[in-house]
Amino acid sequence: MNWTFADRVERVEPSATLAISNAAAELEADGIDVVDLSVGEPDFPTPENVVEAGKRAIDEGYTGYAPSDGIPELKEAIAEKFDDDGLDYATDEIIVTPGGKQALFETFMALLDEGDEVVLLDPAWVSYEAMAKMAGADIERVDLSPHEFQLEPALDELAATVSDDTDFLVTNSPSNPSGAVFSDAALEGVRDLAVDHDFAALADEIYQRIAYTDETPTSLGSLDGMDDRTVTLNGFSKAYSMTGWRLGYVGMPRPLREQASKIQSHSVSCATHFVQRAGVEALRNTEHAVAEMRSAFRERRDMLLDLFADHGKEVPFPDGAFYMMLPVDEDDQAWCEGAIEEAHVATVPGSAFGTPGYARLSYAASEQRLREGVDRLVEHGYL
Ligand SMILES: Cc1ncc(COP(=O)(O)O)c(C=O)c1O
Repeated sequence: MNWTFADRVERVEPSATLAISNAAAELEADGIDVVDLSVGEPDFPTPENVVEAGKRAIDEGYTGYAPSDGIPELKEAIAEKFDDDGLDYATDEIIVTPGGKQALFETFMALLDEGDEVVLLDPAWVSYEAMAKMAGADIERVDLSPHEFQLEPALDELAATVSDDTDFLVTNSPSNPSGAVFSDAALEGVRDLAVDHDFAALADEIYQRIAYTDETPTSLGSLDGMDDRTVTLNGFSKAYSMTGWRLGYVGMPRPLREQASKIQSHSVSCATHFVQRAGVEALRNTEHAVAEMRSAFRERRDMLLDLFADHGKEVPFPDGAFYMMLPVDEDDQAWCEGAIEEAHVATVPGSAFGTPGYARLSYAASEQRLREGVDRLVEHGYL
């Protein structure tokens, strides 16, 4: 068979983190202990009451198809959660998806055509670029690395990048991979540009519950002028340690939701019914568990920043999520390959996120493993 493939898949590469996890898996298969700081998932179990709610839902027979865009009880709980964030999405402006990634995919596919313009803020999570490319869109990028990954000092550059041709701008705060939380002034700057040039914005708030700021980070869609042009992405994977349950949600203005939900109904059909029931419990009754995870992440962040400072490394301050960007050699790919092969510490090259010269470290690992990782990097001359 002489296969020819669609341009949309030829345009994208497999996930950059895959090469790292393959290398880690090969070493581990040879019996080598790898300190894996490349992972994008919390290392805590899903809260017990959520697990119980999921089991109960199976026992009660919620094992069939669910309504395509989500069960009413969960959409109601999500609308209330959005309302707490100052976001005014009605239940018919919400889609419950099997993971936040699916919600993003539906958004990009519903909104963007060949040649449309998407603006990304680097470092940007790997899948935005892949999804934009699959939609055929052109990508413009603004580099936040000269500004310690903050958006506010880069607003002039952003203003020079966007135009009336811009269709969509992606923000992600707290950020994967930098951990940066954007200031209110930065978000207001985005708002002014979006309104002036009449483009839509995505606010990926999947790490919103893992922020160490005094106040919950502001939601872009809550700003004046943004409610009818903001897609707000959130989900259960990170906040409630539910990566494998595959449950996410998105709020979007009604006209866009009508289009995006066609993609959901003709592709994945719906998020798993009993998982959605567990999702209601997660949204309503996990305040304590979330606070515990957040404070554990914060302690680890502080510990790592201190350890790196002891070795003369200043890391741009991460105020959320469970990642930080460690400044490394210019050839970050070679640094990461060396770190895994020699020190047996797995990290992700910053170039995968559009910012070479850094390695992304995840601190979703115990303090003991984090210390071990730093010791190994020091021992092998990587710090
Ligand atoms: C920035 C960001 N957005 C969205 C997602 C999607 O997460 P999920 O599909 O597990 O909900 C992730 C997961 O790594 C992420 O890091």
